[in-house]
Amino acid sequence: MFGLTNSDTPNAIDLLKHDHDDVDKLFAEYEDSKDGSGQQKKALAARICDALTVHARIEEEIFYPAARRALDKDEGKDLIDEAAVEHQTLKDLIARLESAPLSDPLYDAGVKVLSEYVKHHVKEEENELFPKCKSSGMDLEAIGNELAARKSELTQPGSGRGRRAANGQRAGDAREGRVS
Ligand SMILES: [Fe+2]
Ligand SMILES: [Fe+2]
Repeated sequence: MFGLTNSDTPNAIDLLKHDHDDVDKLFAEYEDSKDGSGQQKKALAARICDALTVHARIEEEIFYPAARRALDKDEGKDLIDEAAVEHQTLKDLIARLESAPLSDPLYDAGVKVLSEYVKHHVKEEENELFPKCKSSGMDLEAIGNELAARKSELTQPGSGRGRRAANGQRAGDAREGRVS
């Protein structure tokens, strides 16, 4: 994956777009495996939730604050406020999915709604927020290094998200709950 701080590290926007593409592929994989085994679906849903959680954290901890500073007097500030609110909804959807058993009749619908919400959020970031950041003078190389380093920490095998993502399964597979 991405290195810590070296010249090969993509700039912030390329790194975030790469994450967006990766999770989009995972959603497509889930769609293709909807008739597959329960374990396969559960493992894919876990990878989606882990990838989205790590991505949201690096945006909230590093990218959004940097963008807020750079765009403070611009309408970009409103975009970041909206993005932050959308992250709350994303986290709610993720939490519901993570606590739902596969036997929940609304499990697939939960993944689908999450997918649609992520698509909407990503579209706003890529079409509205990122272009403003690009023209704002933000040091996207330095922020890219910070994002890569934090992402690396959060996905270490010792960390919860990293371990589960690597194993393709969740510690809470047996937890009960409903998507609805
Ligand atoms: Fe975001
Ligand atoms: Fe994003």
